[in-house]
Amino acid sequence: MNVRRRTLAVFTAGLVLSLSACGGGGAGSTDGGSSAPADPADITVGVAMPTQTSERWIADGNAVKAGLEKAGYKVDLQYANDDIPTQQQQIDQMITKGDDLLILAAIDGTALAGQLDAAKAAGVKVISYDRLIRDSANVDFYVSFDNYKVGVQQGTSLLTGLGLLNADGSKGTATGPFNVELFAGSLDDNNAGFFWNGAFDTIKPFIDSGQIVVKSGQTKIDEAATLRWQQEVAQKRMEDLLTSAYSDGSKVDGVLSPYDGISRGIITALQNAGYGTGGQKMPIITGQDAEIASVKLINDGVQYATIFKDTRKLAEQAITASEAYLDGKEPEANDTTTYDNGVKVVPSFLLQSDIVYKDNITSLLVDTGYYTQAEVDAGQAS
Ligand code: BGC
Repeated sequence: MNVRRRTLAVFTAGLVLSLSACGGGGAGSTDGGSSAPADPADITVGVAMPTQTSERWIADGNAVKAGLEKAGYKVDLQYANDDIPTQQQQIDQMITKGDDLLILAAIDGTALAGQLDAAKAAGVKVISYDRLIRDSANVDFYVSFDNYKVGVQQGTSLLTGLGLLNADGSKGTATGPFNVELFAGSLDDNNAGFFWNGAFDTIKPFIDSGQIVVKSGQTKIDEAATLRWQQEVAQKRMEDLLTSAYSDGSKVDGVLSPYDGISRGIITALQNAGYGTGGQKMPIITGQDAEIASVKLINDGVQYATIFKDTRKLAEQAITASEAYLDGKEPEANDTTTYDNGVKVVPSFLLQSDIVYKDNITSLLVDTGYYTQAEVDAGQAS
């Protein structure tokens, strides 16, 4: 059933039933007359997630599905294996099947304009989930985190680990110079630029003062980017950096990494080159998402920090926005200026994130029920 039919003319229950039975098919349906709220059980929300290779998207998918089902809706949850045509097809099918509302976490934020046109034509509202869909007027709402601030937190955790800053943000006692390499996310993800800008703006004064040296010279986002955020791509680039910029015996002191999977690729490359053994310290390595394997690496002193973005809270916001639309209302935004998708500024609800260090794993992740202590110890979700 289509969103526009959330307030259906109840002229015959039989018509309602027959519409539901044929799976909706929004565009051609008849509105009008006195209205009554549709039964949530007649409403299907299509949820498209990018990949199951990263734990965070599994957690997001599960949390969104569970929350919507708890509210009584049906959920059509699809993962696209990080393959753009697969995701496009999944969304096309959601619209054809008559899903009433879409929650979409894009693989490539610039590749869904066609699907969004079809959604608009079918009267289906679109909530862009965590990754902003670009180049389309038909993105109705955006739920995410303050992504620039996530980048600032990544830069801050790097500086703190190096001792250039104290945890409270004051000037640290270390002076450097430190050799640091920089990694960015996937350029087709709108978030990658926000993370990079936040982090780069934070560490730039230290590059300018000579306390941080990027030995490879690769300080532009397109030189540092990691296609599809892939661990193997990052591992290969770190291996190449070690061979090209560190063959003189100099050591890497820090690596800015925008995502835990990328951090694990970087760690593998460094460990293969002898870091972390025989008195050769691991560099300070940042991350994002508090993936369980990486939380264990932080607990074990291998990775220095990550950024915790509570997927439960993000899912909750997506559900709140969905319910507003399905009730014929507008969701409440807390940011109406930041996220310009190239066509319009998309009203957004942005959440806050936290830096996870070894000493606050318990308070941020265990005490809040995100993981159990046993999971942190094992480095695996049970
Ligand atoms: C998300 C990050 C995630 C990255 C890789 C980004 O869009 O905001 O949380 O680390 O994608 O999956």
